[in-house]
Amino acid sequence: MEKTKVGIIGLGTVGSGVAKILLDHGDRTARHAGRVLWLEKAAVRDLKKPRDCDLPAGVLTDDMDEVINHPEIKVVAQLMGGIEPARTVMIKLLEAGKDVVTANKALLAEHGPELFDRARELGRSIAFEASVAGGIPIIANLSQCLTANQVTSLHGILNGTSNFILDKMHTEGASYSDVVAEAQRLGYAEADPSMDVDGTDAAQKLAILSQLAFGARLKWQEIPRSGIDTVDLLDVSYAEEMGYKIKLLAIADLKEHGLDCEVNPALVRAGSPLGEVGGPFNAVLVKGDAVGPLFYHGQGAGQMPTASAVVADLIDTAVGRTALTFHTLGLWSDAVKGVDQADF
Ligand code: NDP
Ligand code: HSE
Repeated sequence: MEKTKVGIIGLGTVGSGVAKILLDHGDRTARHAGRVLWLEKAAVRDLKKPRDCDLPAGVLTDDMDEVINHPEIKVVAQLMGGIEPARTVMIKLLEAGKDVVTANKALLAEHGPELFDRARELGRSIAFEASVAGGIPIIANLSQCLTANQVTSLHGILNGTSNFILDKMHTEGASYSDVVAEAQRLGYAEADPSMDVDGTDAAQKLAILSQLAFGARLKWQEIPRSGIDTVDLLDVSYAEEMGYKIKLLAIADLKEHGLDCEVNPALVRAGSPLGEVGGPFNAVLVKGDAVGPLFYHGQGAGQMPTASAVVADLIDTAVGRTALTFHTLGLWSDAVKGVDQADF
């Protein structure tokens, strides 16, 4: 059977999950891609760190160039966090002729236009399903399945760490600081967890989704936002008394005057779909003018749900499906508005 050689850069929480699926479940990739996705090289910073996956000899390296310049690696999962060196590595990968899959929403929210333009110039693709809402296929839905619609609103719980912390505060009366440490230990939080709890991560994800749903070029920094770092147990108990849960909501509503976006802790009715989202789960409520309301729910942070999205992108890229979507995606280009059949 044909082999597509794959590289990984970053073998932490998400990268190790990707390696596990590729190494232990080749049958799945073979079934869906009609070829084996062969893990050829995985680059990390520190070779001595224990890894959460068993790699065949010769796969692990601390020299990223072994991935970037490998002549037979066609697709690379870029799974380092942060902006630099991730941005430079991504450009080098594209220039070396690799298609890239990434979960790095901070990088895409900050440098998406530059990276997407460069990929197009070079005839390469970037797939990013795992960058928003972990295992929920929200990127594919907005960029492929809902394209007949004008999305009119998108309301989401987009940060798993914040939801995990709030849920523990509601259900166990746990203190904020204890739960932050647990979210880090479980691999839900960012390397810098302040980005989870101050609303930054949710705003970055909302910016990415808003590009897909509304064609809006938003700077995530301009989205009004606050996080859960100011919520205490007293707020939680008042909310409970009134029949509400506190949730970190990311909201984009299309109005007459334009798009209203914000990220804030909000009171959500207990028992409602968003009010019942627990643990590190995410949810997205999308309304389209043709399809009506849709509700997506699933694990938004954590190793295997995120790896599920990355590997699906690797398969799509290996068989050329990503390129088809990527090159027609209006993500970072100006939205085409008001064109209908009567104009032709
Ligand atoms: P981790 O911190 O667990 O892993 C990062 C990996 O990148 C590590 O293996 C690290 O190497 C490697 N790395 C970092 N800097 C360098 C460098 N300069 N050279 C080589 N390797 C480097 O992060 P996660 O796996 O949690 O997250 C990865 C990405 O996925 C991030 O962008 C994150 O926002 C995103 N994401 C994470 C989710 C989650 O639930 N954790 C969910 C969805 C997206 P070493 O191990 O040697 O230090
Ligand atoms: N730190 C992020 C979260 C990981 O908690 O949602 C998933 O993007």
